[in-house]
Amino acid sequence: AKSGYDHYMLKEIHEQPRALRKCLRGRVDELTGAVDVEALDGLNPSSVQFVACGTSYHAALHGASALREAGVHAQAFLASEYATAPAPVTDDTLVVGITQSGETADTLSALREARKRGVETLAMTNVVGSTAARECDRALFIRAGPEIGVAATKTFSSQVVAANLLSASLAPQSDAREVVEALRDLPGQVQEVLDSSRAERVAEQFLDSEGYFFVGRGYHHPVALEGALKLKEITYKHAEGFPAGELKHGPLALVTEETPVFALVTGNGTEATKTVGNVKEVEARDAPVVTVTDGVSDVERYADAVLEIPETHPRVAPVLANVQLQLVAYHVAKKLGRSIDKPRNLAKSVTVE
Ligand code: F6R
Repeated sequence: AKSGYDHYMLKEIHEQPRALRKCLRGRVDELTGAVDVEALDGLNPSSVQFVACGTSYHAALHGASALREAGVHAQAFLASEYATAPAPVTDDTLVVGITQSGETADTLSALREARKRGVETLAMTNVVGSTAARECDRALFIRAGPEIGVAATKTFSSQVVAANLLSASLAPQSDAREVVEALRDLPGQVQEVLDSSRAERVAEQFLDSEGYFFVGRGYHHPVALEGALKLKEITYKHAEGFPAGELKHGPLALVTEETPVFALVTGNGTEATKTVGNVKEVEARDAPVVTVTDGVSDVERYADAVLEIPETHPRVAPVLANVQLQLVAYHVAKKLGRSIDKPRNLAKSVTVE
């Protein structure tokens, strides 16, 4: 069943090019850049609230940024926090639950809360016939195929792609066509990363570290969180992810030569330049720097190790960066002899609140 791979997680990481092709199939017009997703027909919300947990919440953060960039009011909420002080809704608010399994209790209960308030709901899920898909007004299937490993990998990539489709469809930006073109090239680029990744070497290099930090700005912020979550889940090592700008507001106190900092930097816009500035601060404290980069900025000058990714659109780059971090987490866990597909204390779908 693992088709020659040692673990389901590695198999599922390698299934990403195929999963992404399936997510896109029939949903984009390559000539015009138009997005045509049946589940979204006739939707024109004035605001969007995402609710999700864990890895799916990281995809929700991406979706909310993409929608805001397109001029739509959008926020991402942790499902377990949604009911405490619910954000105001109007008649044309849309609540989107992102849940791979479609069975996560916290997310189901946030969606039920939204329906109680009379709001339209959409389930973005991998499982046709799941509770979320059945209970919501609409369902957008991410079509990643079954995910057996407890750590979410291919479903995260598919959720980010589906969130980009959602944003391009609800609020066609001037650059929608560029995003669509980038999405079309993405499966091949993910394959390139899988074929050339030096993540196993990096894992070996930093196996004995005390803790791991992950930093990224803008669209790389959710991936910084996701990189840390994956590492914690399957290696049991302490890891923390945060927006690069927050480093100097506290975490820098923990940065030493024993704590590698993974910095996500693509392009050479303002965000990249600022993150490179943060990398220099870290380097001055003798922390090893591993950068995940497309090589456009000069970040490599300050790095002890480089994980390369191909150049693409800023709303697509986080998927490629995340593949490198998935592989780092996998190889660290493997070298430490961890139970990769079934980490201690965790379940594939969390059906209690
Ligand atoms: C992380 C992980 C969890 C899930 C979370 C939500 O690798 O698997 O953080 O992402 O439990 O699960 P779903 O998406 O099924 O609602």
